[in-house]
Amino acid sequence: MRTPPTSDLDLFADEVLLDPLPFHAELRESGPVVHLPNSDAYALTRYDVIRDALADWESFSSTSIAFNPTADQALTGTSLASDPPVHTPLRAALTENLSPRALRGLKGGIEAKADGLVAALVAQGSFEAVDALARVFPLEVVADLIGFTGRVRDSMLRWGQAAMQVLGPMNRRTAESFPVAGELYAWCSEVTADDLAEGSVGRGIFDAEARGDIPAGTAGHIIHQYLGAGVDTTVAAIGNIVALFAAHPDQLREVRAEPSLIPAAFNEVLRYWPPVNVWGRITTRDVEIEGVVVPAGARIAVLFGAGNRDPRHYDDPDAFLVGRNPVDHLSFGYGPHGCAGQGLARLEAHAVIRALSRRVGRLVVGPEVRVPANITRSIDRLPVLEVIPA
Ligand code: HEM
Repeated sequence: MRTPPTSDLDLFADEVLLDPLPFHAELRESGPVVHLPNSDAYALTRYDVIRDALADWESFSSTSIAFNPTADQALTGTSLASDPPVHTPLRAALTENLSPRALRGLKGGIEAKADGLVAALVAQGSFEAVDALARVFPLEVVADLIGFTGRVRDSMLRWGQAAMQVLGPMNRRTAESFPVAGELYAWCSEVTADDLAEGSVGRGIFDAEARGDIPAGTAGHIIHQYLGAGVDTTVAAIGNIVALFAAHPDQLREVRAEPSLIPAAFNEVLRYWPPVNVWGRITTRDVEIEGVVVPAGARIAVLFGAGNRDPRHYDDPDAFLVGRNPVDHLSFGYGPHGCAGQGLARLEAHAVIRALSRRVGRLVVGPEVRVPANITRSIDRLPVLEVIPA
């Protein structure tokens, strides 16, 4: 049995994080799994191999999803970082409040909020898309959902970013983010039902704990996972929606002409630019992948974007086409840990796409600014210089 090909690429180098897909494409062409000694990891690069590994939790364990041991340790016992059977009840508690039934009541409010926000920005004529839309909107939605009030609302963005950043290797970004992620952890350990707005989902989680429906002491952890997993990712996705429709006005036109394409358009945004750039697993045994062996105890780097652009799976993968409807993209993961919050993410994103396609003919944007980040890949600033109304 052969060993996998090796590359000296560092997945977490600034220039790679800023524009990872060309680097990941090179890895994908050298093999379905590539050993990266400089990242202390084996990268999974092709669609089928990524999907199979995410389904095979017995060989690819979630007990290490970060790229440094301190973060892995801090996550021990959470849904994200556990395998079945430990994972099963934790996930059930997480998903209960994010099920289609639980979210049904939120749809109207989320759509009205997105439409009001986009209408005001269009009337303004020019705006900063990330600050004024991509950050504001999901923060408001998640804050209202959980029932955050006052000071905590202002910390959510920093906390959410840090919770993702600390999953990287022990570089400067990770070290600087640990104290901020610690603030979130401390707050979630102390928060009580009284701190959360009446009628909110967050308050409901505490009520469930009080009734004994979920184990004592878990309500704070659930809220921690909503914030850690649900803020930075959705901010990235909404920034990507604006940037991709600005760059592809013909695709925005297609959605305006045929609003039933909205879900397909969001699938394509996620396939094209996955908000989660890289994510970890650890092998529990020697695993054979297409004729090569990855040893037991190896750190695995799952490259969702490399899989999403794999020409073995998608025709013309580098084209952005809203009609493609890639329902099987990898950006929400797959298998037992597939994103628990995707229903909420879709509600938010569909509302933004609906509002943009209804109100905007074309967006004239300046250059997008990106800042390297360990796990989430998002646009930091995107000036909209002119809005040509629909
Ligand atoms: C576009 C936005 C989002 C993206 C791209 C995204 C991506 C992901 C991915 C890739 C995973 C799988 C992790 C793994 O395999 O280990 C995941 C899991 C998860 N996501 Fe999301 N996510 C998004 C939004 C949200 C939101 C809004 C929430 C909640 C409010 C959320 C909550 C979670 C939770 C709790 C898990 C862990 C599930 C488990 O361990 O079983 N996500 N997400």
